[in-house]
Amino acid sequence: MSGTAQIGVTGLAVMGRNLARNFARHGYTVAIHNRSYAKTESLVAEHGDDGDFVPSESMADFVASLERPRKVVIMVKAGGPTDAVIDELIPLLEEGDIVVDAGNAHFPDTIRREKALKEHGLHFVGTGVSGGEEGALNGPSIMPGGTRESYASLGPILEDISAKVDGTPCCTYVGSDGAGHFVKMVHNGIEYADMQLIAEAYDLLRQGLGVSAAEIGQIFAQWNTGDLESFLIEITADVLQHVDAATGKAFVDIVLDQAEQKGTGRWTVQNGLDLGVPITGIAEATFARALSGSVPQRAAGLAALPAHAAEWEVKDRDAFIEDVRQALYASKVVAYSQGFDQIAAAATEFGWDIDRGAMARIWRGGCIIRARFLNRITEAYERQADLPLLLADPYFTDAVASGLPAWRRVVAGAAQNGVPTPAFSSSLAYYDGVRAERLPAALVQAQRDFFGAHTYKRVDREGTFHTEWSGDRTEAEA
Ligand SMILES: NC(=O)c1ccc[n+]([C@@H]2O[C@H](COP(=O)([O-])OP(=O)(O)OC[C@H]3O[C@@H](n4cnc5c(N)ncnc54)[C@H](OP(=O)(O)O)[C@@H]3O)[C@@H](O)[C@H]2O)c1
Repeated sequence: MSGTAQIGVTGLAVMGRNLARNFARHGYTVAIHNRSYAKTESLVAEHGDDGDFVPSESMADFVASLERPRKVVIMVKAGGPTDAVIDELIPLLEEGDIVVDAGNAHFPDTIRREKALKEHGLHFVGTGVSGGEEGALNGPSIMPGGTRESYASLGPILEDISAKVDGTPCCTYVGSDGAGHFVKMVHNGIEYADMQLIAEAYDLLRQGLGVSAAEIGQIFAQWNTGDLESFLIEITADVLQHVDAATGKAFVDIVLDQAEQKGTGRWTVQNGLDLGVPITGIAEATFARALSGSVPQRAAGLAALPAHAAEWEVKDRDAFIEDVRQALYASKVVAYSQGFDQIAAAATEFGWDIDRGAMARIWRGGCIIRARFLNRITEAYERQADLPLLLADPYFTDAVASGLPAWRRVVAGAAQNGVPTPAFSSSLAYYDGVRAERLPAALVQAQRDFFGAHTYKRVDREGTFHTEWSGDRTEAEA
């Protein structure tokens, strides 16, 4: 017998609860279930008038309350709990049913789970959901993977509840098996880079101008009216102008300067290393959080290491602010360019057909990195779907080139004045590296041949060669 609910949500903590309410508010009959029944009951008691909920205490009743093919969204703690829920669901489901993992799974787990459920005749859709609890309720950015067949029936529902920008849903099919969770992972990595770049811009302004956090908040508010317009710039302006009620000090000054992480940045960097993609912006952002939390090292460094740096003297306040703005924009383009390279490399590695322009489009609303500038990325991939380097799209080439003198002044100034700007600096180094006609990698490869007979290729003819470094230094074809 088939039930009447069009979609089900199991796992009703903050995210699942809000997602279920979002489905209900869009007119869907929503089956709801949670391991401990109290959360199910409180959802109905507090928000029953959001729409049509079908609560169940047992997983079996929950599954039975769904119309076929069943669509079950799992929104539980990522890792072991997701596997536990899947194991409980499998014997209750029937061929053609769709299991959606909307938690923050690591994409290799999604690949594994998709394969396992396929053997039971079930569709498994690993989907990224971004936007936190607010997004889950009012419209997140949704990145579903899995089969195209499952997207045909599930996709319209997800598109319905997603954020909309200019009437376009922030949800589209991403690619098979782990593609959705992969793209969500890179989204989070880019978020790390974006946040670090903003933090460095703040630090430069604070140290360069010697002004209050609130004044810098006003500068960010101003920036939010131009090319940099984004959720992260907007909240930065807000945070910097917030005053701590207990002390009357700027809120940012009473927060301990140690940034934590849940791990998606680390996953992104690990994958960048695996694929050999230089995602230096994301890596520096992740390491900057690690450095901030390296308490004994920082104490030892503070006590022992001299700065030998000049006192920063900014002569033209407005020109300096504009330099930092341009350097921030250019560094941000690099971080996004690297993230999109990573998506392209993973698509090749894992056989995913990912439309990068569509990924930028579904990140325009609902998610943490939502920004005006994502439109420009979509347009770039519309101009050339297989663009090898986002930075080389004419729009971005021009935008970055016009800010290049400012970018160099800011990075050089930071170095001379002892202000750490790992993400600004590494982004500029990447820019100069990726545009270089010739890199000192030639010397590295020569060294490798010297000590390890790792061979080298020549610029003037085909083949692989080795020089007898410890002998007569003749060259032989390897
Ligand atoms: N919070 C965010 O902003 C955010 C944003 C995007 C994605 N996510 C992801 O969304 C998912 C849900 O996040 P959340 O913050 O709402 O909840 P959470 O704190 O990650 O997980 C709590 C939920 O998991 C259930 N659960 C835990 N272990 C279980 C098990 N062994 N078997 C069955 N159920 C189990 C809990 O049930 P009980 O009530 O019975 O304990 C509860 O419903 C996570 O994967 C998270 O990473 C979160």
